[in-house]
Amino acid sequence: MATAKPPEPFLSRTWDYITDTQLWKSVFRHGVPSTNRNRVLVVMTNVFLHLHPVKIRKSGIRLKFTWCMGGLTFFLFLVETFTGLLLMFYYRPTVAYAYMDIIDLAEQVPLGIMRELHRWGAHAMVISVWLHMFRVFMTGSYKPPREFNWNVGVILLVLTLLLSFTGYLLPWDQLALWAVTVGTNMMGYTPVFGSQVKFVLLGSSEISNDTLLRWYTLHVLLLPFVIVIFMAVHFWRVRKDGGLSGPL
Ligand code: HEM
Repeated sequence: MATAKPPEPFLSRTWDYITDTQLWKSVFRHGVPSTNRNRVLVVMTNVFLHLHPVKIRKSGIRLKFTWCMGGLTFFLFLVETFTGLLLMFYYRPTVAYAYMDIIDLAEQVPLGIMRELHRWGAHAMVISVWLHMFRVFMTGSYKPPREFNWNVGVILLVLTLLLSFTGYLLPWDQLALWAVTVGTNMMGYTPVFGSQVKFVLLGSSEISNDTLLRWYTLHVLLLPFVIVIFMAVHFWRVRKDGGLSGPL
């Protein structure tokens, strides 16, 4: 004689009911990540997780090999973006206010925390991007098929230095003014178009409010926008080149 099936516990039936609804299935397109197939699906169907490869070679991410300098550079870029955004709430890019606003941000805010984080973060990012390039060079990771990504990297390096240099003028102190005077004078020696290049950089014939506004816009908008695009290409390319080169 067949025995009757014991009724399923209430919670388990409710769970089954919920996970069977159209709403649930439209959001979660895979089961619990307890099998390899589901783990892959979890990564591939999530907008944030899919930025990472599903599988990587263990050797390719050894700290000894990468020094994590590329990752650190990216992390510092995020720090700069966040602290820079907070600074934008206070800093006014005009000759009348710029200098005082920076003094206030450094002295009125406890430890001048946002300004110092932004400043030291910028120095650290310049150092880490050089170290990253050095490691890529020393491990021969610029060789085919990664030569294209090396070139994208060179553009990233230039953009990082430009971000650093455009930020230099913003405190509008003596150091900033003279550094930019020297820099733009040097660029004024560009063959053929020297005076035009200098004029475009200064926004007038000498350092003025126009220069400050121009460099501010480059620093907070144009250069970050361009660098993000190149970073996306850089990271995508690491994947398409077969992941990190890994120890030989
Ligand atoms: C804003 C600047 C940059 C960021 C955020 C960045 C980020 C990264 C990250 C996260 C990786 C993965 C491996 C790792 O962490 O070492 C990587 C790999 C790589 N980067 Fe960069 N990078 C930058 C600049 C550069 C520069 C200046 C170069 C060279 C001129 C370069 C060339 C490469 C190459 C060839 C790889 C592949 C390395 C391999 O397969 O072992 N990158 N980058």
